[in-house]
Formats: sequence, structure tokens, C-alpha cells
Amino acid sequence: MTCHKPVYITTPIYYVNDIAHIGHAYTTIIADTIARYSRLLGYDTYFLTGTDEHGQKIEEAALSRGETPKAYADKISATFKNLWDEFEISYDSFIRTTDEKHKKGVQYAFSKMHDNGDIYKDVYKGHYCVSCEAFFTKIQLVDESGCPECGKATSIVEEESYFFKLSKYQDKLLAWYNENPDCILPKSKRNEVIRFVEGGLEDLSITRTSFDWGVKLPTNLNDPKHVMYVWLDALMNYLTALGYGDDEAGMKYWPANVQLIGKDILRFHAIYWPAFLMSLDLPLPKHIAAHGWWTRDGEKMSKSKGNVVNPKEVADAYGLDNFRYFMLREVPFGGDGDFSQKALIDRINNDLGNDLGNLLNRLIGMSEKYFECNIDSSRVLEFYNDELVEVKQSLIKLEPMMFDMQIHRYLEELWRPLSVANRAIDKYQPWVLMKDGKTDEAMALVALIANILARVAIMLYPIMPKTTQTISDALNFEIDNESFVKLIRDDELLNKFTISKVPPLFPRIEESLLEIVETTTVENTNKKVTINNVKTESNDNDGVALIGIDQFFLTSLKIGTVIEAAEVPKSDRLLILQVDIGEGKPRQIVAGIKEFYAPTDLINTQVCVVANLKPAKLMGNHSEGMLLAAKDENGLHLIRPEAPKMNGTPIR
Ligand code: MSP
Repeated sequence: MTCHKPVYITTPIYYVNDIAHIGHAYTTIIADTIARYSRLLGYDTYFLTGTDEHGQKIEEAALSRGETPKAYADKISATFKNLWDEFEISYDSFIRTTDEKHKKGVQYAFSKMHDNGDIYKDVYKGHYCVSCEAFFTKIQLVDESGCPECGKATSIVEEESYFFKLSKYQDKLLAWYNENPDCILPKSKRNEVIRFVEGGLEDLSITRTSFDWGVKLPTNLNDPKHVMYVWLDALMNYLTALGYGDDEAGMKYWPANVQLIGKDILRFHAIYWPAFLMSLDLPLPKHIAAHGWWTRDGEKMSKSKGNVVNPKEVADAYGLDNFRYFMLREVPFGGDGDFSQKALIDRINNDLGNDLGNLLNRLIGMSEKYFECNIDSSRVLEFYNDELVEVKQSLIKLEPMMFDMQIHRYLEELWRPLSVANRAIDKYQPWVLMKDGKTDEAMALVALIANILARVAIMLYPIMPKTTQTISDALNFEIDNESFVKLIRDDELLNKFTISKVPPLFPRIEESLLEIVETTTVENTNKKVTINNVKTESNDNDGVALIGIDQFFLTSLKIGTVIEAAEVPKSDRLLILQVDIGEGKPRQIVAGIKEFYAPTDLINTQVCVVANLKPAKLMGNHSEGMLLAAKDENGLHLIRPEAPKMNGTPIR
């Protein structure tokens, strides 16, 4: 991709009907990575994210909780913003579709499209899926009424509506796809869109009258019962955030370079959005980039299954940068990805720990042992030019990869310099050089490694901002556009410096760290509640999240008796228990309580068991439930019935 400057990068704006999950984090982290990369290269970059707050789905979600849509949207929007802040997402603006400025901009766009003759009034009759906020024709439905996207039942809508002349843009859209082979990435998605559009486009209903929670039409249309279709409202955010229809200074960033989306919302972005822009006489985005879908341990994630990956929980347990690296390295852009702790741990221990972390340790060790931590690069070229050339060959390939959304290949390529460095140490053996009195050669070798690590750190910074900061602290330089130009573009070497010792970057992880979900904990101090692996932010008053009784009853709690207990070999934390919960056959439960209970103390005692947890494997042992326990500074204590109860008695 040719990258015109300034650079504008967007994420979808997230619906406020639920808290963020791994899919949201994925899109946002890709966008953050590209934005950081673009700034590193010195481009004037604007990165937008935000929340999508109108529409029937949000209205229904709010009302079912007894809240006004605005109060509800305020609360959930804040959870997204807080999470992105905690994740240090480098957005320049966080837009909310309930912002007055946004609403005005949408009305301005509506008027313009109306003035251009692209909007007319009629009656809409058809099917609507509230969950997807989308209209479907009869032939698109599954079994006559099911939504083809999410499978939920659609409702029949018949109401007066304004329409956008989408059909008028069919040929223009096809011309755009054909003339711009990269306009939709990956290319396979572009082909899908072309086939869809060739099948014929119907005009699009863009207002609703059956509910209230949306942007009103411009007042001069004098039609107060209509609110705008949430997708028209939402898509306009990419313009209103830049001041469209108001102070348009920000419009210098338009058209966007990369608009990141998930594959499920491709139709809205690849068909409706460019058609709206054409109607507004605005240029079209350079790339609409659609990523794939995340599953967990091979299964689709859903709230009812309780297997939704909570990004904060993963980042807290494994480290944010490691999580970022995993997501970006694991899946080729556009493909679906599977989240499992095993895959994440493998990436951390192997790619990060063995290849990168160890290299830094080796460098620190060698420089300390032979040169009192002082590093001088002045003779690297003389002794190790071939290695530097090999490194350069990899670095040159990186730039187009990032902007072409080939981030997994970018990372793959970025690992080659690390193997050049590791190989150089093994081949030239600094300890032999020292023994043979070739001190200059040994110093040059150590400096070669430092320079390779510095280059890798600069290029890895967009993906792992914190970790690379530690590396640059150790190597006594700053990662910024200046060092990018100096070390990457101009091939310069580090000035003389003294290395600072830093702790190992990636301590080895031996077992899943999220087995904490084995024990239901309520941590008052940091106001979080972990229930079946779904973390809910608490309200501010009492430190405890409010859930409905129906949510509570999703958890099956039962009394059980421990009939066998043993230590899990090589684990400091785990015991393996057989617990009778009245099912005939005992349940095997692996629990992280070894520090607090000896196996013999547990046998024949009663415990409270979460009986409908998805089975898990902990250090290779199957586990089919978890025990309730309370932990504080006095240790961990199991929760037990006050008087003996029959095994299997439900706990209410
Ligand atoms: N509000 C709309 C977008 C409007 S943009 C003008 C919306 N919001 S969403 O919150 O439902 O989804 C936001 C993004 O999350 C989408 O890009 C979607 O693809 C992504 N994901 C939702 N579930 C996902 C996975 N399981 N895996 C990966 N991404 C997923 O749609």
C-alpha cells in the first residue's frame, strides 16, 4: 500500500449492550499497533475508536434493566473507555454516538444526501433482526424467519420509512472494487462483496418509527416520529469525529487509510458506507480490512456457554504485551483464530522467552562478564558485516507488511534477526574469543547482538510497547522516530553505552494461569467479581457487581463429599480430588488449594461444588468442577455446609 500522509485509522464503534470481549480487544489492538507504527515512521496519525449507542438493541437492553438508554449507555461506554485506557490504547479520539457533535454531523449528512436526491419516503415491509440491527429480504432468511447472520428470530416490520437509493450506486460500487484491488482486505472478502453486489442491491430503509432511541431527522424535514437507522448513524462516526459538518479542520485526515472491522460487519462497511460517501461526494477509504472470528478452545464463544474470553483477565494473568503478541502472531489477518491458554503459553515460552528474552539475558551476561557492561559498536562492521546485512534484508521487508495487514508475517520476519543473533553467539563463541585474547572481536560480537536487539525492539514496539521500552532502557536508547530513522533507515549503530541490567522479560510459564476460575472469588479491594470466568465490572457504590437472579441461577452449586485426594505431581498449587456430588460416579476436580490443605485433611469432608463448569485440563488432569473457597490474608478456607447435607443437595 502507498501510504499517503496524514494517516487515519479507525476501529468499529462498539455496541454498548455488553462489556468488551476478546473480539473487541483484537480489533482495537490491531488498530493501535498500526497507529503506533505509523507514528514511529513519522506520519501525522489520527486513531479513532468509540461506542455505538443508539438503536433498538440498546434501547431494549437498557429497558430490560430498568435503566434509561442514556444512563445505560454512559455506564457501558465508560467500561470500554476504561479498558482501552488501562490497555494504553493510543487513540486520539473516543467518539460516542450520543455526543451532540456527532448527532449534528449525522443530521448534516442526512440533509446533504436528501438534497442530492438520494433519499425518498415510502413504506418498509420486511424482516428485521434486532440483534444484528439489520434488514433482510425473505430469500435471505433461514427457515422463513431466522436471521441469516446470528440465527435469532427476526420480526416483521411494516412502517413508514425514508429510503436511501442504494440501488443507484450498484455500478459505481462495482467500479470501485474493480479499480482498487486493495480496497477490501483480505482480497477473498472483496470477491465475496463483489458477488453480493452483482446479485443486485435494493434501496435501504434508513429511518425507523417504532422506537425512539436514535438521532432525529433534520428539523427542516419536519418529521419528528422518525429516528435514523442505527447503521447510518454509526457509520457517520468516522466523519463526525473529524468535525464533518462543523469545524472541518480534522477532515484533512479523510479519507481513512485503514478501517478495521470484523468480517461480520463487512456488508455495512463495504457496501452501505462507500455508497453513503459517494452520495456525500467524499473520497472513499483506502482500505477496509476485515479480520476473522475468535473462538475459544475450538468453540464459538457465547454468554450462555460462559466461555467468553475476557481480555482484561487474560492480560492481567499473562501480561498485556504477551497477549497482544499472541493475538497478532497467532492468526493471519482475515483468518479465524482460536484462543487457548496452551497456545498462548507456547508463544510466550518459545517465541518470546527462548528467542527474544534469552537473547537479552545472554547479552547482559556476556557484557557484564567480559566488559563490565560497557558496549562499543565501533568495530562491528569490520568483523560482522555479513550478519548486519542479513538483518537488514529482513528489516527492509517489514514496512509494506504492516500496512498490508500482514502483521503475522511481519512478526515472523522480525524474528529472523533474532536467530541471526543467536546463531552468531553460537558460531563465534565469545568465551573462546576472550580465551584467545581476541577482545576486540568479542566486544564487536557483543555489540552486534546489542544492535540487533535494538533494531528488533524498535520494530516490535508497535506490537509490544511496554516490553520494548524495557529493552530500550537496558540498551540505553529511546524508541522514537529519531531512533527509527537512525538505526532502521540509515543503518547506523548504537553509540557507546553502558548496559543496564533488567529482570528476565518472559519468566517461563509452567501451567495455565487462569485456573483461578476454579475458585469463585469476590475481591472487594479491586471491585471485581469472577463468576464462571465472566468478569463484570462492579458498580461504584459497594464494590460488588449487580447481577440478575437469572444470572445467578446459571451457576449450579451442589454439596459434595471428598472421597479421595492427592497431590498433582510437580505442581505447587494443585490437588486432585474425587468428589461425590450425588451422581453415582464421583467428579474429578483439580483445585488450587495445595498450599492450604493436606490431602488427608480433606477426605470425608463436605464441600460446595460448582457443578456446571465446562471441563478443563489443569497440568494434564481433567477437571469437572470447582470448589468454593474464600481467600484473604489469613489464608484460604473452603466453604462448607454448616450441618451435613446429602451429596448433590443444590445450594440456593
Ligand atoms: N456497533 C457495530 C459496529 C459499528 S461501526 C460503524 C458493531 N459492534 S459490536 O460491538 O457488535 O462489534 C464490534 C466488533 O467486534 C466487530 O468488528 C466484530 O467483528 C467484532 N467481534 C465480535 N465478536 C467477535 C469475535 N468472537 N471474534 C472477533 N471479533 C469479533 O458491530
